[in-house]
Amino acid sequence: MRGTYDVPPPGRYEGPYKERRRRSGYALYDSLGITREDSEGRMRQAFENYRLFGAPHVAIVTSEAQLGPYGYVDCGAYVANFLLAAESLGVATIAQASIANFSNVVRAHFDIPAERHVVCGISFGYADTEHPVNAFRTERATIAEAIEFRGFGD
Ligand SMILES: Cc1cc2nc3c(=O)[nH]c(=O)nc-3n(C[C@H](O)[C@H](O)[C@H](O)COP(=O)(O)O)c2cc1C
Repeated sequence: MRGTYDVPPPGRYEGPYKERRRRSGYALYDSLGITREDSEGRMRQAFENYRLFGAPHVAIVTSEAQLGPYGYVDCGAYVANFLLAAESLGVATIAQASIANFSNVVRAHFDIPAERHVVCGISFGYADTEHPVNAFRTERATIAEAIEFRGFGD
C-alpha cells in the first residue's frame, strides 16, 4: 500500500536535527540489541510504528485543512499537553508522526473527512515496564543549546 500525506514531512534532516535523530535511533536500537549492521532488525523495529508499538489505543490528531500551519501549531500544543496529562495519570504515550505518512489509510479506516488533515497519532496505554525498550530514554539538549537569550539592546 502506498502512503500519502496531508502534512509534508521534512525532505531531510540537517545539523543538530539529523544528529539528534541519529543518536536517539541508535540508543533505541541498542536498548533492543539491534546492531548497526542489522538492517532487517532496524526495518522490523520501524514497522512497529504500524502496530502502534503494541499499544491498545490510538488518538488520531487532525486539523482543519483551511487553517494550514496555524492549525498544525495548535495540534503541537495539544499533543504536548495530552502526553503530560496522560503521564500524570500513569498512562504511557508515543506520539507518532509516522502514521501521517499513510493519511489515506488512516482517513479511510476512521472515516475522516477530506477537509481535515491527519497530523499525527498518539498511541497510548499502560507501559510494559518489563520490556527493555521502555528502559530507553532520549537525551535532552541543554538550555543553552535550546534557547538564545538576548537583551533589548542586542
Ligand atoms: C510530534 C511527534 C511525532 C513523533 N513521531 C514518531 C514516530 O512516528 N515514530 C517514533 O518512533 N517516534 C516518534 N516520535 C518520538 C516518540 O514519540 C518519543 O518522543 C520518543 O520515543 C522519545 O521519547 P521522549 O519524548 O521522552 O524523548 C514523535 C515525537 C513527537 C513529539
